[in-house]
Amino acid sequence: MLSEKMEKALNDQMTAEFHSGYLYLSMAAYLEELDYPGFANWMKVQAKEEQDHGMKIYNYIIARGAKVTLEAIEAPQTEWDDIEAIFAHVLEHEQLVTSLINNLVDLAIEESDHATNQFLQWYVAEQVEEEENAMENLGKIKRGKNSADILFMLDAEFANRIYTSEI
Ligand code: FEO
Repeated sequence: MLSEKMEKALNDQMTAEFHSGYLYLSMAAYLEELDYPGFANWMKVQAKEEQDHGMKIYNYIIARGAKVTLEAIEAPQTEWDDIEAIFAHVLEHEQLVTSLINNLVDLAIEESDHATNQFLQWYVAEQVEEEENAMENLGKIKRGKNSADILFMLDAEFANRIYTSEI
């Protein structure tokens, strides 16, 4: 059983994960416009993973006999200054999501909700990975941003990312 407060907080996080997917899909569309199909592929895979993150919470809310409430998903940003700004935004966004997850864990501890705390530990570990990947990607873009050849090579590298379901 979930408390009313926890049910609301988990539904909010589910929406935040779906919003992350929407944001990354918007970045993908912008990267297609800039003619970087490989970077766009990376963002599309990221968007699908975010959908999975939301669905994991959906499934957990159902498993606890609570109510899933889908909320409005805020429209994402649609344009960025340049490719570095896009990848800087990814890192900033993942840091924000980490803080949301930390707040949820704090609530689970406060409520002695051990099951939800355990469930959330998957997200705690995932956020370490998300931030690490975002930092690594931003570093690559920063180093290569002034060279069309390097960007071309990076685009080809990012084209290799393959989606595997996380649920
Ligand atoms: Fe669902 Fe990128 O964190």
